[in-house]
Amino acid sequence: MTRIGKVLGISGSPRRDGNTELLLKEFLRGARASGHETELLLLNKFKISPCTSCGSCQKNGQCIIDDDMQSMYNKLLEADYIVFASPIYFGGVSAQLKSFIDRCQTLWSRKYILKETLISLEKENRSGYFISTAGATNAEKFFEGAIIVIKTVFHVLDIKYKGELLYPCMEEKGDIIKHPDALQTAFKTGMSLSI
Ligand SMILES: Cc1cc2nc3c(=O)[nH]c(=O)nc-3n(C[C@H](O)[C@H](O)[C@H](O)COP(=O)(O)O)c2cc1C
Repeated sequence: MTRIGKVLGISGSPRRDGNTELLLKEFLRGARASGHETELLLLNKFKISPCTSCGSCQKNGQCIIDDDMQSMYNKLLEADYIVFASPIYFGGVSAQLKSFIDRCQTLWSRKYILKETLISLEKENRSGYFISTAGATNAEKFFEGAIIVIKTVFHVLDIKYKGELLYPCMEEKGDIIKHPDALQTAFKTGMSLSI
């Protein structure tokens, strides 16, 4: 079922107009072509410190770190579709994206410790995608590490993992443009979003 709604694209690459950012932008362009509203967050532009495991969020559901992550929580809860994009760094997602995801511990606490309902009824059946590129030719094992991280945060956010766009052999900036159909596939996937 297609539900027209908000698509939140979150880019973890520090490389502007790099391979994953270009794929994500095409995905969002496709989503807009289908009538969705989109928002792109380039995490490298924000100050998002890592979680310090202070435990405050387990008491009151609030993160005490006063930085740009504070404005992200509502965006995560209000989106109908979430797309994470990250290069593979040492077999996982980038530090920028990992800090962002670790700070979702606040939402984990609200859901599992404080027993809050995070997602309103009309937002049920949210879905999400993962976009990634890696330099290695045989990058399957690297993607696997990143996918586990993405599936874990999607589970906390009540988001069904709908699919992934993974491209190995993408070492240099712009390599993705030379791929015969990667950008077109990203556009089409965004255009065909469904819950
Ligand atoms: C710090 C760093 C770590 C990397 N680690 C890996 C890796 O473990 N495996 C791999 O195949 N490529 C690795 N790469 C290559 C990137 O994944 C690849 O260049 C990717 O296409 C970059 O995406 P971007 O242009 O969106 O930033 C690494 C690159 C950097 C800068």
